Amino acid sequence: MRSSGTTPLLGFFLLSHVFVVASSTWLENATLALLERCQVTGVGGVQLFTPDASAFYGAQWTRDLSYMVQYAPNLLQQLERSSSRLLVEDAIRYTFQRQRSDGCMPDRVQADGLAVYSPGEVATPFADHAMDNGPFAVKLVVDYSNNWNDTSLFCELEPQLLKALEFVNKSQTGLAFNDPLHPNCTYGFFDTVAASGSILFVSLLLFDASVGAANLVRLTGCGKAEPYESMALGVALSVDTLFDAQTSLFLDADMANALPDVWGSAYLVSLGLSTRARRQQVMNTLASHRTLWQHGQLRHLPFPLVWEKCFDGECPSPGTYQNGAFWATPLAWTVPALLHYGHEALARSLAELAASFFELRSQGNITGILECVNTQTPSEGALAYVASATNIVPLLRLVE
Ligand SMILES: *[C@@H]1O[C@H](CO)[C@@H](O)[C@H](O)[C@H]1NC(C)=O
Ligand SMILES: *[C@@H]1O[C@H](CO)[C@@H](O)[C@H](O)[C@H]1NC(C)=O
Ligand SMILES: *[C@@H]1O[C@H](CO)[C@@H](O)[C@H](O)[C@H]1NC(C)=O
Ligand SMILES: *[C@@H]1O[C@H](CO)[C@@H](O)[C@H](O)[C@H]1NC(C)=O
Ligand SMILES: *[C@@H]1O[C@H](CO)[C@@H](O)[C@H](O)[C@H]1NC(C)=O
Repeated sequence: MRSSGTTPLLGFFLLSHVFVVASSTWLENATLALLERCQVTGVGGVQLFTPDASAFYGAQWTRDLSYMVQYAPNLLQQLERSSSRLLVEDAIRYTFQRQRSDGCMPDRVQADGLAVYSPGEVATPFADHAMDNGPFAVKLVVDYSNNWNDTSLFCELEPQLLKALEFVNKSQTGLAFNDPLHPNCTYGFFDTVAASGSILFVSLLLFDASVGAANLVRLTGCGKAEPYESMALGVALSVDTLFDAQTSLFLDADMANALPDVWGSAYLVSLGLSTRARRQQVMNTLASHRTLWQHGQLRHLPFPLVWEKCFDGECPSPGTYQNGAFWATPLAWTVPALLHYGHEALARSLAELAASFFELRSQGNITGILECVNTQTPSEGALAYVASATNIVPLLRLVE
């Protein structure tokens, strides 16, 4: 995501032909160090988790914290045990205390207590908000409850969770809908992109969050399952309208920037939506696009497509950042989907290549874990980027 106009430029070595078997021990250790060093102290001494351990983003982003809690619960629990004041649930409450009265969840919360609702600089926001923050906030609490075996936080926050999901603007069919004339940001990992109409990735997050919340409602008796079930059903029944027969992938949107969404198509498969035959078709398509991957990491759009319309006047230069660089974050759901649909060799090599790329690039220094990588020099994004590591930690065990 974007918050700052300055990005560090990196010297970058072409490592595509170098292959070493990454050690999952190295990656776990490095991830633990990232989770420890990404923290800043907020109001009241609450430890906040920022997206990187290089003081680049400097605030607690809702979606990044959600990925940490989903994919690295064991490492966070290890840190909690060795620290007297770190509590993940306090960090989560810090975000929820700053929910807007209309239900909008913050994009990020700062150490000084300020909540920021839109991507972009505080003084020059891209829009009113990013549509994914409600679903990510709900997933955060659902995954916390499940991974910490503690449903009390869910019961305490459930009324706020429902408001956060009801805030997401929807079309009549139940998909997340973004006004083409006044677009908000959609999914934060392409928050520079002004996509509009029915929106794939936010709809999928809405489905994922609603299913998780409905399950916990049934388990705990806190809240009512019906509104969550009806939001999930709306997405499940309508998401096939975004399928693009020409490319055999799902489009990220159906108005501005209606392009085949690689991360979203794999996420849809991982959630078991659409039909089995179509999920197989999507994974075969992704596996056949060899130009989608570099250093085991994944582009947003099939090469050589780039986004057409962005906030801030123009899109990032083609081939850079959210407009054509390669990211480790989506491997979390793409690798299991490849494994499940018969592409084991590719799944295994992606997870291992990404981990060994970071290991080589780092040489023992976690700053080499990059937000994204680029085929040209220089690359762009934050150093010591937490989601790049948390989102591949569970995969190395899965493919072993
Ligand atoms: C674990 O990470 C720390 C901090 O990055 C480093 O100092 C230490 O050598 C690492 N240990 C192993 C076994 O990799
Ligand atoms: C964003 O959504 C809000 C409603 O939540 C709407 O008022 C606004 O016009 C939308 N667009 C922008 C650019 O803020
Ligand atoms: C939660 O419960 C599961 C299954 O009973 C167990 O494996 C896990 O270690 C528990 N986690 C915590 C944080 O207590
Ligand atoms: C909300 O969705 C409706 C369609 O259900 C649409 O007409 C309206 O423009 C959307 N509003 C925003 C702010 O996206
Ligand atoms: C790690 O690398 C960065 C630059 O990539 C450098 O600024 C920093 O001093 C290094 N840290 C250590 C402990 O070597």
